Amino acid sequence: MRRKLLLGNWKMFKGPSDAKKLGEALKDKFKGATKPDAVAVFPPALSFASVRAALDGSPLTAGVQNLHWEKDGAFTGEISAAMAKEAGAVFALIGHSERRQYFGETDETVNKKTKAALANALVPVVCVGETLQERDGNQTNMVLTRQLKGGLAGLSAESAATIVVAYEPVWAIGTGRVATPEQAEAAHAHIRNELRVLFGALADSLPIVYGGSVKPDNARGLMSQPNIDGALVGGASLDANGFYAIGEAF
Ligand code: 13P
Repeated sequence: MRRKLLLGNWKMFKGPSDAKKLGEALKDKFKGATKPDAVAVFPPALSFASVRAALDGSPLTAGVQNLHWEKDGAFTGEISAAMAKEAGAVFALIGHSERRQYFGETDETVNKKTKAALANALVPVVCVGETLQERDGNQTNMVLTRQLKGGLAGLSAESAATIVVAYEPVWAIGTGRVATPEQAEAAHAHIRNELRVLFGALADSLPIVYGGSVKPDNARGLMSQPNIDGALVGGASLDANGFYAIGEAF
């Protein structure tokens, strides 16, 4: 059985004190056994330490939203995988569509960052997904294939054993327009096939999570699909009760 993951991307919300409050609320909410096998949140880098401290003693872990592939150096404004690891990160989001769209992230930088995450024992959550224009032009599968082949280039099955893929259709992010379970399942099945081409049998054990307007009321339909192994939640992860309710739908 594949691990089922509930991941909360806080994006550029919650400074250190608000993030601490949300971390404490999550610790309180998720104190018993949870349906997902793992639950993690991705606060802004400046708030990471306060969230990590707030979650101490809780099964919840934390990750970073981005990293740089170099260990250190003159890269103003960046943080390295080694720094994220030292600060207690377990996961790293790589190549989120907002980073591709607004910050020049490419399949090539995704590839470097994924390798850096793996080299530092972080679990990379590699994000892929098509724009509305690409979906309307029947290019969804082609785009996903390109992003996976480029982003995961040069990785052996052995080195890729811990990766997570997040399918996040750009048109469903922050729009309230969620992919139907059938649309999402079709994309996830395609992603799994591509992972099989890249990594053989390992593909069957790699979690593929869905992101894009996941809410408590639409999570169950998505999570019941055979190739959907969890959720990467944006807006709804900023509320402890809502985030917990999504996990209950697993
Ligand atoms: P929303 O859940 O706000 O649509 O965001 C999804 C997302 O981008 C998570 O990374």
